[in-house]
Amino acid sequence: HRVGIIGAPFSKGQPKDGVQKGPEFIRDAGLIQRLKGQGCVVKDYGNVAFEDFPDDEPIGRLKNQRALVCSLAIGSISGHAASRGELSVLWVDAHADINTPLTTPTGNIHGQSLSYLIHELHSKIPKLPNFSWLKPCVAAQDIVYIGLRDLDPEEHSILKYLGIKTFFMTDVDRLGIAKVVEQTCDHMFLKVKKPIHLSFDIDALDPSVSPATGTPVVGGLTYREGIYICENICQTGLLSAVDLVEVNPELGNSQEGVESTVNAAVDLLLACFGRHGEGSHNPDYTIP
Ligand code: ARG
Ligand code: MN
Ligand code: MN
Repeated sequence: HRVGIIGAPFSKGQPKDGVQKGPEFIRDAGLIQRLKGQGCVVKDYGNVAFEDFPDDEPIGRLKNQRALVCSLAIGSISGHAASRGELSVLWVDAHADINTPLTTPTGNIHGQSLSYLIHELHSKIPKLPNFSWLKPCVAAQDIVYIGLRDLDPEEHSILKYLGIKTFFMTDVDRLGIAKVVEQTCDHMFLKVKKPIHLSFDIDALDPSVSPATGTPVVGGLTYREGIYICENICQTGLLSAVDLVEVNPELGNSQEGVESTVNAAVDLLLACFGRHGEGSHNPDYTIP
């Protein structure tokens, strides 16, 4: 695999400090060396630079609007679509992140990313002056969610209105993760095979594994279920970009909590780029 890494040390999508340190902790845990160790060709592009807007006026309920014109998934999915065309988006998260600026109960943009990106929601998004560059680029039928368990009532209505494919935690319980991933792929590959954008919010995992995150919700995916998703999406050969978001090393209540969260994030990324639970294989090995 050829892998490019970009860090986005950004926290204005939500009110808690610390999440901007996620990229540094993930790099310090050895992400790049370990990717190389499993045979990847890695280029580290460093971090995105973010401008600071201290006196940012809210628009409607939307806070920090000027700082946010490149909130993570909005920027990464727009950029990905600009370079690769139509995408399938797999959104692994406890949350649906599909509030519009008019439905958001918190005003935090990390709970709204997808609403700006979906063609079918375009008419529901008020015209925002600093967001005029932003054109929707994803069709509702090309989105699949896994791990959902904490939605706002309006988000339920939006998902239903759009007919988006969802696997809530109850579905993971009922079907098992293997069936969930199989049905995810069936849905994504129904018409044409598009490049996959995987957005993995670390809060999709259970807080017993990844407590160092801003909005933890009990009852999440196990470590293995998370890894299984990444391994199998990797094996489709269509994974084209991954966002690993919401690692906040200032939360988590203990050193162990932070380490467990950061290690889980690194392991998920390694699984996305070819790492196997079986260990690495050397095809040239002969038994002495
Ligand atoms: N639904 C809530 C909101 O709109 C919580 C979103 C949490 N999102 C996240 N990316 N952790 O604010
Ligand atoms: Mn979340
Ligand atoms: Mn999220």
